[in-house]
Parts: sequence; C-alpha cells; structure tokens
Amino acid sequence: MQHTDIRLLFKNGEEYVGKQVTVCGWVRTWRDSKSIAFIELNDGTALKNLQLVIEKSSVSDEAVKPALVVGAALKVDGKFISSERNGYEMSVRSIEVFGGCPNDYPLQKKHHTLEFLRTIPHLRPRTRFFEAVFAVRSALAFAIHKYFNGHGYKYVHTPIITGSDCEGAGEMFRVTTHGWNSEYKTEQEYFAADFFGAKAGLTVSGQLEGECAAMGLGKIYTFGPTFRAEHSNTTRHAAEFWQIEPEVCFCDLHDIIEIAEDFIKYIIKDVMESCPEELAFFDERIEKGLLAKLKSVVESDFGKITYTEAVDVLKKSGKEFKYPVEWGSDLQTEHERYLTEEYFKKPLFVTNYPADIKAFYMKQNPDGKTVAATDLLVPGIGEIIGCSEREGDLDKLKSAMLKRNMPLESYTEYLDTRKYGSVPHSGFGLGFERIIMYVTGVQNIRDTLLYPRTVGGL
Ligand code: 4AD
Ligand code: MG
Repeated sequence: MQHTDIRLLFKNGEEYVGKQVTVCGWVRTWRDSKSIAFIELNDGTALKNLQLVIEKSSVSDEAVKPALVVGAALKVDGKFISSERNGYEMSVRSIEVFGGCPNDYPLQKKHHTLEFLRTIPHLRPRTRFFEAVFAVRSALAFAIHKYFNGHGYKYVHTPIITGSDCEGAGEMFRVTTHGWNSEYKTEQEYFAADFFGAKAGLTVSGQLEGECAAMGLGKIYTFGPTFRAEHSNTTRHAAEFWQIEPEVCFCDLHDIIEIAEDFIKYIIKDVMESCPEELAFFDERIEKGLLAKLKSVVESDFGKITYTEAVDVLKKSGKEFKYPVEWGSDLQTEHERYLTEEYFKKPLFVTNYPADIKAFYMKQNPDGKTVAATDLLVPGIGEIIGCSEREGDLDKLKSAMLKRNMPLESYTEYLDTRKYGSVPHSGFGLGFERIIMYVTGVQNIRDTLLYPRTVGGL
C-alpha cells in the first residue's frame, strides 16, 4: 500500500516539506473546533505523533467526523509542512477510515497505569510507553547480533525441547502428550511410552548444547527463549524469558569477564545511538538520570570483587539485612543490591562463589571450595549475567555431578566433550529482559515482554 512511514517524514523532513504524502496510523488524540480539527496520528514507526491539521473548508464534515475517534485507523493524504510548534505537520486533503473504534476502546485516556495496561497486553503496544519499550527491545537484539557477528561468533539455535536440566535446579516445565495413569507400573515405563520415549521438558538454558557446538565451532552464541518453573513472583522473574548465551573455547574466567564487559558496553552504546528519543523519554518519565547512568556505564570500568570479600563487605556494612550473610550462603537480592548500588555504585562482577551454591559445570578452583564463576550485578536490578569457566576435566566434572545426584547416563553426550579433546572454555548467560530493564529503567519484567508469562498468570 503506497504510503510513507511517519518515521521517515520526521527523519528526512526537509525532503518532504511542500510535497503530497500519504500516511497511515491510529488516532491517539484529537481536537475539534468550528473551522479546524487536529488529529495526533501514530503508525508505530516513530515515538512522536504526526499532527494532522484539517481545515473544514477543504475536507467535508462527513469525511472528518468518523476520523475524530480515539483508536480509529486512518489513511490520510495531504501536504507535509513545517510548523513552528511541532517541527512538522500535515495539512490534510482527504481521509479514509480503515477501521472505526467504538467507545469501549480501553485506551481512551492519555495516561494509564502500567498495572492497568498489563490487563490488556494485546492493546498496550498502542501506547507510547510500550512503543518505546519494544523499540529498545528490538534495537538491543540487533546490537547483540551485531556484536557477536562482528567478533566471529556463530549464531546457533539450541533445542527448546530437551531432556537435560542444565542448571540442575529442578525448574523444568514438563513436555508431554499424555498423562499418568495406573497402567504404568513405574515412572520409567510412563516416560518410555511418551512422545519422545523419554522424560522431556522446556530448556532452562541452551548452555549444554551450546558447549558442544563451541567445541567444534570455536565461538558460538545462542539467543532464544528459556523457561523456568520457578515460583518466584518478583518483578525480575518470568517463567518464559530470553537468554543470550555465548560459549568461547580457549578462554578462561578472566577472558570471559573481559568479553562480558566489552559486550555490555557495546550494546548499551549502540542503543544510545539508535534509540535517542526512546531513552530520552525513559529518562524523563521513568528513571531520572538514566542517560547519565548509561553514559557512565559505557565510560568507566566495572567493579570486581570476590565472593569472599563481598561477604566481608556485607558483614561490615552495618546494614540490617532480612537474610543474614554467612560464607557459603547464596547472595540474596538485598545483598546484591547493596554491593552494586551502595558500595560500588556501578556494575560489579562478583567472582569465585562457593561450589556448593553453584551449578555442576563450573570449573573447580584449586582451593577445593570455590568455583571460577561470576555474576554481573547492576544497580536497580541485581544479577543480569551468570557466568563461569567450565570444568574441563572429565573426572572432576563427573564427581561434581554425582555429588548432586545427577544421572550421568542422561549426560553422556555432554561428557563426551570432556572425553574427546577437552579444552579450557567459558561462557555466560545474559537475561535479555533484565538488560532491557536496566537500559530503560522499567521496573517490572512484565513490562518488557509482549505477553509476560509468570507464575499464576498467562
Ligand atoms: O544465572 P543463570 O541461571 O545461568 C544460566 O542459565 C547459565 N546456563 C548461563 C550460561 O552460563 N550460559 O541465568 C542467566 C541469566 C541470569 O543472570 C538472569 O539475568 C536471567 O538469566 N534469568 C532470568 N531472567 C528472567 N526471569 C527468570 N526467571 C530468570 N532466571 C534467570
Ligand atoms: Mg544465576
């Protein structure tokens, strides 16, 4: 359909001034008077609305009336002109209404709460806030692909349905075509009769398959949906979220930390260049000082501290934490946030966690107690990246698995990577929605996903 994106009209304004153009979009607001009417039109390609100016002397009343409806979809012809107040606007010659919009349309008001908008996920992309969120989401995804593509990584697609629980935390959603009944004598029998002939679930992470791919392709990354049946009803947990997981051969913990920092800075810088209006909007409406924060993240070094030192800092902080800190216990969000927000006041890598609170695949340090792992914590959120060097020694890996009661026979392919030409290698997982939250200042993960899936809500 012949028309021009509103984005292009604003971007290359001078080229269009004085010309006849056709635009399409939805009515955000309108005003009417005796001789003139105004419509704010948005087509989703630009955050800013295009103001349509309708002189009643040149467009008939019958044509104008059905267009003065919030939510109606229009096709409009007219002359693109510059205006002192709006920069540019359009002087309308003719209007066609694609789709009218009855007055039970829920987005009548100018401002709606995010809580209300969560009840209408199918309509909320028609608001400025969500237009901005999804523009940043899209730009960040593109920046991520650019980074890895530019550094020689292969983009691999790991399976979504899998038999192995990568994190070993028992948070997999089951995938099955039939239910249990009393004819099955054992669980084994039941799973054997199922679609795959084995117990299957939705992946919690593409890492294990990603490691196998990296062992031939050298450097890979995944970027796909992952699923966790965690009963964490928080503003940072979703049951379906996207993860970016690079896996790099011939790379130790120190190297992967450098890569992660370089990567985070690159994608933030890229999105600052590609989405200036959206980020200015978030700076003004959602998080004052957001742009200054992002600028300083790109320009300064991230902090680094070992888990052991971090526990010390927390103990000496004089803070009353809900969960007490002891060496060996996992850091809670309140601890993570104290470290990154109050102590370091910037993104922070915490390294060398106790082996017992981390996953089986992490490289065991010579001290026999800790693993070569790191979490990247950021102010306002806490953990955004989980990272480690992988255990490359077959025997050590097996013993870590047995210690966790993992069935080795389900991981024979993974173990083969350590049997046949094992190499030092490392990788990390970035929570896509968490980096979107960090870059936009959006407070709730439910507002970064088109259709958020969280415990108790579909
Ligand atoms: O720390 P996690 O569990 O690490 C892994 O899954 C590793 N296999 C990654 C790797 O080394 N390849 O998860 C990685 C990141 C977290 O840091 C967090 O940002 C995000 O994924 N994440 C979630 N995001 C939203 N909702 C949830 N329920 C999340 N669980 C983890
Ligand atoms: Mg983690």
